[in-house]
Amino acid sequence: MKPNTRTDSGAVLRQVFHPPVREWQYWVIQFTVALIASLHLLNDSNHDLLGAHIPAGIPVALLIIPVGYAAVRYGLAGSAATSIWATLLWLPDLMVRHGHPSADLIDLVMIDVVAFVFGQRIESERFARSRAEQETAERIAAEESYRLLFESNRAPIIVVDASGMVLDANPAARELRESGDDLDLIRAATDGGGVISDLNGRTVRMSNGEDYRIGIVDLPTQNDGAATQLVFENVTAELGESRRATQYARLVVKVEEELRRRLARELHDEPLQLFLHLARRLESLGSKAGVPDEVSSGLDQARLHALDAANRLRVVSRDLRPPALDRLGLVPALSSLLSDVEEDTSLSTSINVSGEPRRIGADIELGAFRIIQESVNNAVKHAEARRIDVKVDFGPERLRVSIHDDGKGFALRDSADGDSPGMGLLGMRERAAILAGQLAIESTLAHGTTVRADMPIAGPLSESVADEGPGIVKAD
Ligand SMILES: Nc1ncnc2c1ncn2[C@@H]1O[C@H](COP(=O)(O)OP(=O)(O)O)[C@@H](O)[C@H]1O
Ligand SMILES: [Mg+2]
Repeated sequence: MKPNTRTDSGAVLRQVFHPPVREWQYWVIQFTVALIASLHLLNDSNHDLLGAHIPAGIPVALLIIPVGYAAVRYGLAGSAATSIWATLLWLPDLMVRHGHPSADLIDLVMIDVVAFVFGQRIESERFARSRAEQETAERIAAEESYRLLFESNRAPIIVVDASGMVLDANPAARELRESGDDLDLIRAATDGGGVISDLNGRTVRMSNGEDYRIGIVDLPTQNDGAATQLVFENVTAELGESRRATQYARLVVKVEEELRRRLARELHDEPLQLFLHLARRLESLGSKAGVPDEVSSGLDQARLHALDAANRLRVVSRDLRPPALDRLGLVPALSSLLSDVEEDTSLSTSINVSGEPRRIGADIELGAFRIIQESVNNAVKHAEARRIDVKVDFGPERLRVSIHDDGKGFALRDSADGDSPGMGLLGMRERAAILAGQLAIESTLAHGTTVRADMPIAGPLSESVADEGPGIVKAD
């Protein structure tokens, strides 16, 4: 606080040169000083004035009264000017009568010193008091404007202590509390050892059916207790919008998957069977007795074409909807996908399964399969890779998959996050988002690409909680 003290002393000293010349009381004091000086002069020149002898020190000592009064009333400005004025009035007497320093001179110096010290002290105190008053006024004004904002804010706001006890609530929050016991949710959430700051960004579904996002502001501590302000921002519309978008995307994917499943089945049941039947007919025709060799070899060629067509149809049908996925689950479907890749290309592949492999929700199996299928297809089509390694981790609550290729890599901004992201990469992100999961792509030029996806096995958390009614849900 040193610099402040210096500033204060400077401000105090400046007062010396600003006596309160506009105040009539000030001039009464100066007049009193002049009166005392005259009394002193008279006393010195005529000891028998009024028939009484006044001791020489008395008039000087009397100066304490106007000087002290000036100090109390005007601070240093008054006392300094008054003592200077007294000294000036005394000067002729000191020089003319004695011509050398005397007891009067010492008294005068003492009065000057007292005037300065006393005045300065009073001035400092006045200064400190006015500063404190100003600070108090500013604090009160700030508190009032905070109070006004707090009271008039349409967003519910509560102030809680470290244990989650509600210390204060604005009218919007009180209204909410009256309509249900909602704000106790906050206590319920923090009672079980939770930390209030963890609520920041969380979304709460209140019993009025609205969704609120919690914002946390730490308030300056009051009475030794930490207080936290929780602002509830109504995000019902925003969440509704994003829920609707996810719902729509989920529907689109569902319709597309349904279409793929139907197409796969129809291709498998009709044209594929027809080609197989055709191949068998051609074979039996070719092996009939009496068929010329030329015709027989032509029939055999036609039979091979029919088998090739059947095979292609089988591949298309399997790509559309791998039968192993529905019947056997994610891992067998992936093994079959990778062995097809090895068969059709010169790539080597591996699959590493960890955790507790099990059947999980059909949506999640399908979503994870599509993400891996697209990543593997990309590695085959674009990466010029030698290997593809797939990892699947069945955690207790989350399924984590990763697909790595050692190919040429690519600049992400040119694809997924750029102006024209590829449909495949977009689709993968969409699949992960629909399942309330995350997808990350890492690619380094000349070193390859890794796609990682991570999704909750129990399905989107927000949905399950929303279905059960009010509660705290994880922010998206
Ligand atoms: N594993 C990969 N290795 C190299 N480039 C890739 C890889 N995956 C994607 N890409 C690049 O990103 C682009 C976008 O991929 P994608 O969205 O799947 O579309 P598409 O496969 O239809 O081209 C690809 O055209 C390719 O240039
Ligand atoms: Mg692709």
